[in-house]
Formats: sequence, structure tokens, C-alpha cells
Amino acid sequence: MARPRTGGEAMTLAFPPLPDWLNELYRTLLFLPEQASRQAPPLDAFHYFQMTVMTGLAIVLGGVVVLFCLRYRRRSEGERTPLVRAPVWLEFGTYSLLLAFFIGLWVVGFGQYLDMTRAPGDAVEIYVTGKQWMWKFRYPEGAGSVETLYVPAKRPVRLLLTSRDVIHSFFVPAFRIKRDAVPGSYTRIAFEAREPGRHAILCAEMCGTGHSRMRGEVVVLPPQEWARWLEERSAPEAGDGGEGPLAARGRRVATREGCMQCHSVDGSRLLGPTWRGLFGSEVALRSGESVRADEAYLTESMMDPQAKVVADFAPAMPSYQGQLEPPEVAALVEFIKSLREAPGRAAEGRDREP
Ligand code: CUA
Repeated sequence: MARPRTGGEAMTLAFPPLPDWLNELYRTLLFLPEQASRQAPPLDAFHYFQMTVMTGLAIVLGGVVVLFCLRYRRRSEGERTPLVRAPVWLEFGTYSLLLAFFIGLWVVGFGQYLDMTRAPGDAVEIYVTGKQWMWKFRYPEGAGSVETLYVPAKRPVRLLLTSRDVIHSFFVPAFRIKRDAVPGSYTRIAFEAREPGRHAILCAEMCGTGHSRMRGEVVVLPPQEWARWLEERSAPEAGDGGEGPLAARGRRVATREGCMQCHSVDGSRLLGPTWRGLFGSEVALRSGESVRADEAYLTESMMDPQAKVVADFAPAMPSYQGQLEPPEVAALVEFIKSLREAPGRAAEGRDREP
């Protein structure tokens, strides 16, 4: 069982690949998403097989029940139903076959389970941390990202999951992987993406009021591009037009304090106004006045949020007076500043943590 494995041939008890048309037919009938990992097609094939066998058995059994009802029904008062005995070998044979069948299913399923929890030694290892309500990723060489997971195509990847608060569940439907992230321990899941592309990450464990918003994205890059991305991210001073160190710290503070639960960095509207393009813009207030979003306004909004409430938004923000150190406020302002231009860059979770 602990035999050495290499990527691509890790599964020993795989189903033979289905013809494309059959695979597509089943996938459509069962409303399954695309099969974006190497593990997905055999897993789906196993699923199809079980569904088909169980449906077939149910139909046969139902038919037998109906047949027996008709054939052996009591036709008149006082008539005894004849006792029918099957030969012992038939009963024994049937049960043995059924037992062997279910053990067989278990063996195949167990092989697939191993394939998704053990990755070969050269797998890329990425640490995943769930917290209310976001996913954070830590790569080899210290690079990090928030909400977007970057992985290379055609290389085995092993995720090591944990949680900072409650139990979350890391779910990528297109890869057919789902694994709980449990506070205080690490769980593992492995996959190998087939092609470059983008797929949704969901949280599949009810983890609080923000559960439904705890989403992310896997970005699968061609291997060389991924290596370049990793190198760029890992360099202490990337100087690639991304955030400077202070803004990166601001992002960490914003993450830690939960700012991103109400403020987006990509322009979308959450409970509070987005930070994308906020700095330097003219902000319309509830009072009918307007104010320029500069350092002073941003600082005041953190310390005394009710002083200038933005039009169309509820005065829902709590004060951070006494909760943030002055350098953290500066870092936050710097981070919001860094979101004023270069659309799309900061939204990709480009932070660096030492
Ligand atoms: Cu995290 Cu639901």
C-alpha cells in the first residue's frame, strides 16, 4: 500500500477510460462540472458505474417484487402460499457474489482515496489556511496569496489545510476534491490540474454568517509561468509594480482585522464601499456633502466611522479606535492608496508576507 508512486500512474485500480461521448452523457445527466483534474475522470467513472449498477438492481428487484405479488398472491380464503425453497448453493452463491461486489467497490474507492490524499514526493506543497471568511495560501519559498490559489498544470500538488478559527471545508468541484480544514490540525488533499484555467473554490462547511461568501479561485498556470510567478512573489523586493512593503503590511492588517468582509478590493459592493479606486476620489456622504478621500478622511473613518457615512451605505462599521496601532493605520491607508490604479492587479491578492 505504501509503494512508491509517480504522478500520472498513481492509481492501480482505475476504471478503463470511458469513451468521450459516454462520459459527456453521464456528466450532463448528473449535472457535474468539468473534469479539470487528473483524478476527476476515474472518480466520475466509478460514480457512474455505481449509479448504473444500483439503478439496474433497483429495477430488477422492483420487477421481482411485482412479479411475486402477482404470481404468489393468495387467490382464495384458506389457501396456503406454497413454500418455495432455493437450493443452498444458490443462496450462498448470491450472497458471496454480493459481498465480493461490495468489497470490490470498497477496494477501488480506497485506491481513489489514497490517490487524493497521497501525492508523489516531488509534489508542490501549498499550505492553506481557512479563516472566517477567506482562504489564504502559502507557497514554497515563502510566497503567499489570499483568495486566489495559483498552481501549475500537469504537476501533482499537495495541499496542507488548517483553520484559524472554526471548521471550514476546502472544495473545488472541478477537481472533485473536498477536505475539511480543522483548527489545530493539518489535513491533506492532493490533485493534479490537467490544463491551465480558472476554477471556483467554495467553503463546504457552514462556518458562520459569511460562509456563503467564503469563495476563492484556483488559477492553473502553465508550469513555466507558475515558476516565474513564484519567483517573482518570493523575491523580497519584487519591484514589479505591485504593492510596496508598507501596502503589503496594510493588506495583512486588513485581513487580520476582517476589513475585507465588508470592503472589496475589486470594485464590487459589499456591506461597505469598495477600496478599489477610493483613494483620491470624491465621496458623496449621507449628509449631502462630499469629501475627498485622503489620508485624513480614511483615518477618521476607521476611528470614528459615524462621522462621515457614505451615501447609500448603512452606518454599520464599528470603530477601530484603540484596536489599531498607528503604524497599522498608516499601512492600511497605504494599502488603500495602492488600490487607486492598475485595475486587476491588486485584486489578484498580490500580497507578500515575510
Ligand atoms: Cu468557511 Cu463555510
